[in-house]
Amino acid sequence: MTRFDHFVEEALYGQHGFYSTGQRAGSEGADFITSPETSTLFGACVAEYLDRLWQQLERPNPFVVIEAGSGPGTLCRDIFMSVQECSDAIRYVMVERSDSQRETAFREVTTRCFMDQQEVPLAVLQDLPAGSFTGVVLANELLDNLPPRVVKKTTKGWLELHVEQGVQVWQAAPSEAATMASAIASTAQNGSCLPLQLKAAVWINRALATLKRGRLLVFDYGVQSSEIFAQRPMGEWLRTYRNHQRSGSPYQEPGSQDITCDVAFDQLPGNPSISTQADWLKDQGLYSMTDWARKQWQSALPSPDAAAVAARSVLDEAAALTDPEGLGGFLVAEWRVGDK
Ligand SMILES: C[S@@+](CC[C@H](N)C(=O)[O-])C[C@H]1O[C@@H](n2cnc3c(N)ncnc32)[C@H](O)[C@@H]1O
Repeated sequence: MTRFDHFVEEALYGQHGFYSTGQRAGSEGADFITSPETSTLFGACVAEYLDRLWQQLERPNPFVVIEAGSGPGTLCRDIFMSVQECSDAIRYVMVERSDSQRETAFREVTTRCFMDQQEVPLAVLQDLPAGSFTGVVLANELLDNLPPRVVKKTTKGWLELHVEQGVQVWQAAPSEAATMASAIASTAQNGSCLPLQLKAAVWINRALATLKRGRLLVFDYGVQSSEIFAQRPMGEWLRTYRNHQRSGSPYQEPGSQDITCDVAFDQLPGNPSISTQADWLKDQGLYSMTDWARKQWQSALPSPDAAAVAARSVLDEAAALTDPEGLGGFLVAEWRVGDK
């Protein structure tokens, strides 16, 4: 019998795991699509954020940008394509657990952004570097892929989810898990389930420890624990994806599908400021970046030419990134390190 988080760890990152075998986010042949894969506008907004922060931090050089869970390198590529003021100071570190994605990402970014350069301000690592940097740690849709433990409240106390031969089995939760669950979900009704996002919390602490001064910025499908245990069945907050579609039981064909969990931001350490992705992108100037497209589209109506249709697709991408029912409803958490 395997504890649920250990089962997911193997299904995603084991020898035959979903990510170990080269699965990734994206549009072609991928199982899910993320903000960087939706539009280059996402990377342009992050680049704007980096330029502003670099000024606020009084132009550190080097300005270290660590992107964790960098996948195929799309966000890194788009940041280098857009960044301006801090471009000479940036030292970018992609951190990615999957060997194949690390290779893809390094190739993609170097060939697209640094074709003629002998030395590139880019490193690719398997895990967070030890350090004390001035700069930023970024992660888009990483935390939802860090396997949670799952517990359920019953008349006999808290039980913990295990998996045995493709079937879920509930066993008495060890005292540390039961204590944590009671603290987070003191008002939970019997029958309610809850993810315990210990790995995500540990990862946040490790990421904060890499910074002497700067920001940790995390994007994900965030919720409050109370939304999960009070209202929602487990199949809604713990999901599987295959070929861009919701898939079935997480226990079937381990390694063949992504397994992902809503992230309870209240379980993360520290006191980050939190906004929705739609608001955050607006604050970085998304709408001024797309002003030209709006004007071009409107002036070409009622018979749009090819350029106007291209402009329309930029507007559609911006709408997808800010859709409150989709990517725009994601949460963005920002931790400040080393200043007020
Ligand atoms: C959902 S994908 C997101 C990829 C990319 N950030 C994007 O938005 O398209 C999550 C990625 O995180 C990677 N990952 C999972 N755990 C990790 C860890 N502890 N450190 C670095 N990367 C990790 C996975 O291999 C996968 O590529």
